Amino acid sequence: MRQKGHIFDGFVILVFLLSVSTITKATEGKDGFKQCEHIVKQWASSSLDLEVKNDKHVLQNLLFFLHVPRTGGRTYFHCFLKKLYASSLECPRSYDKLRIDPRKPKCRLLVTHDDYSMMNKLHKDETSVVTILRNPIDRVFSAYEFSVEVAARFLVHPNLTSATKMSGRLRSKNTISTLDIWPWKYLVPWMREDLFARREAREQNGHSVVTSTNPYDTKEMVMPLHEYINNPIARDIIHNGATFQVAGLTNNSYLTEAHDVRHCVLKYQSLGDYVLKVAKKRLDDMLYVGLTENHKESATMFANVVGTQAISQFTGSTSHGDHTAKNSSEQGSSLLESDFDTTYHHSNSTYQKPNQISAADQGEATKENMTAGKLMDAYESCISNLRKTQSERRVNSLKKIDPANFTKEGRRQVSEALLQEMTSLNHLDVELYKYAQTIFANQHKRMLVNKVVTNQLDSGFDDSYRAFSWEAICIAVSVVFVALFAVLFVTAKRRTSKLKL
Ligand SMILES: *[C@@H]1O[C@H](CO)[C@@H](O)[C@H](O)[C@H]1NC(C)=O
Ligand SMILES: *[C@@H]1O[C@H](CO)[C@@H](O)[C@H](O)[C@H]1NC(C)=O
Ligand SMILES: *[C@@H]1O[C@H](CO)[C@@H](O)[C@H](O)[C@H]1NC(C)=O
Ligand SMILES: *[C@@H]1O[C@H](CO)[C@@H](O)[C@H](O)[C@H]1NC(C)=O
Ligand SMILES: *[C@@H]1O[C@H](CO)[C@@H](O)[C@H](O)[C@H]1NC(C)=O
Ligand SMILES: *[C@@H]1O[C@H](CO)[C@@H](O)[C@H](O)[C@H]1NC(C)=O
Repeated sequence: MRQKGHIFDGFVILVFLLSVSTITKATEGKDGFKQCEHIVKQWASSSLDLEVKNDKHVLQNLLFFLHVPRTGGRTYFHCFLKKLYASSLECPRSYDKLRIDPRKPKCRLLVTHDDYSMMNKLHKDETSVVTILRNPIDRVFSAYEFSVEVAARFLVHPNLTSATKMSGRLRSKNTISTLDIWPWKYLVPWMREDLFARREAREQNGHSVVTSTNPYDTKEMVMPLHEYINNPIARDIIHNGATFQVAGLTNNSYLTEAHDVRHCVLKYQSLGDYVLKVAKKRLDDMLYVGLTENHKESATMFANVVGTQAISQFTGSTSHGDHTAKNSSEQGSSLLESDFDTTYHHSNSTYQKPNQISAADQGEATKENMTAGKLMDAYESCISNLRKTQSERRVNSLKKIDPANFTKEGRRQVSEALLQEMTSLNHLDVELYKYAQTIFANQHKRMLVNKVVTNQLDSGFDDSYRAFSWEAICIAVSVVFVALFAVLFVTAKRRTSKLKL
């Protein structure tokens, strides 16, 4: 009897403990969401509060090019910005988060894959931000292809150990390679390890033939695309990458609190709306937003919006001969040539006070009395060269993993289901891209209006663009109204005169 009672008591206690633990778990889950919602909301409201005081259409002292990976930012850097800004004006180690300190040096150009949280290190009022966005599906394709392309270059080595040693040697030199830079520093080694493992497996299996004709699904050679997009690393770094970067919430963020926000958003999808809202607001406040797809229009707009202002900024300033700057800019370009990838640059410059731009610091553009039109011509020839070398490298690298030859035709073999999956994994980026398209259309309108107005006022387009603001639109609207009024007046007069007859 007593024993039974004990057993019964024990049973009751057990049931009690079990139910308590399930209840706590349930509330924990709820609290988890509530807590996360609180964290994310807090972050969003403090981010939205930060107002831009300056006219966002005016180029400030520092140009911050927020380079979202795989959007074609490199061509802008090499073919526009390098022509506008001398190497000595670049913020040192632009792509290297750990070593950059842009607040100290008075550099004028920062081009980086680091996210928007970088703004906390900059003088907000003296900084103009620009970026380029791309259709998210194409961006994921491109990220996959580039990870494979760069990793496949290592296949010249007999084994992973010697490949890793080799890249270690390259990295110890005073250069920056793709492997030093977020996100490639994670994506490439991961892919490289995978490529070597697959090669080893092939060798063990007596060189089995690849049966698939779909280059995105050759598991004997390369990690298939569907495997790539579902890997936690891709979820960490690639999906919704543009939104996270513009919001300042990548896993490379400066802000410690960003990581909590980020984890909450990855855990509870509905919280993504707050992030999207912040990202949209930031795009609104940028000096320029380009689109990879509308390449020609984007480039023209860049030349007109950013290029002309940069040119007039430099030509309008007093000249101070500063030879240290010149020497360091030469140093910068020699480093670029020895760069493993030539994808990224690195400048180690002496610092300047703003508005004391020496003759040596002016990019080629300002020395040659550049205009937006000439800048565009220079850009066109520059990109065709760049593309040629780029595609040669790509072909050479992809040869090593034949038949995984990524082409536009190859993409058509990717199943609808997989494309759907990519879309849903990138739902924030899909929304942000749509939003960027409307910003782009408005920018385009504004540029056209501005061109008309400046032509009418018969002043140099280049100089007046700097002063451009809403006044320009007001003038344009007034001109249109006056014209409209005149037409109406004339027709009305005609009518009355007809009536008289
Ligand atoms: C990797 O390749 C290097 C160079 O050929 C060789 O010395 C080394 O023994 C190899 N390592 C392994 C684990 O096979
Ligand atoms: C960022 O993501 C990569 C890949 O998942 C991971 O290895 C790395 O630890 C992450 N970094 C941080 C700070 O979370
Ligand atoms: C920089 O270059 C100038 C000539 O262009 C030279 O006179 C000067 O000594 C150089 N300075 C350094 C630090 O190399
Ligand atoms: C620039 O280069 C010099 C010598 O080459 C080096 O001592 C210095 O640390 C470098 N500065 C930065 C910011 O990398
Ligand atoms: C640029 O313009 C200045 C003054 O207008 C002139 O002296 C100079 O020769 C021009 N340079 C070129 C390369 O056309
Ligand atoms: C891959 O396809 C492109 C375009 O069809 C072609 O030019 C290239 O030679 C191909 N490369 C390989 C390794 O098959």
